[in-house]
Amino acid sequence: MAVKEILKFGNETLRKTCHPVQKFNLRLWLLLRDMADTMYEAEGVGLAAPQIGILRRVVVIDVQDDHGLIELINPEIISAEGEQAGPEGCLSKPGRQGYVVRPNKVTVRALDRHGKPFEITGEGLLARAFCHEIDHLDGKLYIDVEDHEIVQDEEEDADE
Ligand code: NI
Repeated sequence: MAVKEILKFGNETLRKTCHPVQKFNLRLWLLLRDMADTMYEAEGVGLAAPQIGILRRVVVIDVQDDHGLIELINPEIISAEGEQAGPEGCLSKPGRQGYVVRPNKVTVRALDRHGKPFEITGEGLLARAFCHEIDHLDGKLYIDVEDHEIVQDEEEDADE
């Protein structure tokens, strides 16, 4: 286990553009391991490398479906269709959610941990995670694209 500190909104590193991965070596695999450990420890469904201070185009996602852990190196969205609107959060800002419109079905082209290209299609939460995490690689955060912040009503809290 190597759980890393997750950088929070306001940290300038989260606003930088990440560099493509060119070497598929042990260093990359250790990064992937650290990212998965950190994501699972934080009980998140996705994490991008800049969130642990590494400016590389690397993403891990696990939305607890049949795909299991998904590793994306140098990912690109190659098609998107439909629309979904709903709450979205980020491990870099615990406790906050925004109302964000995203495509409902997204296909991503990426490289695996050995540098081999593949494509993966996700719908619903997985499509949302693809968009959110790939945005991170270009320094873009969901607060940039949200319609509004979702503010928990105090009475709702009291009912729980
Ligand atoms: Ni995020």
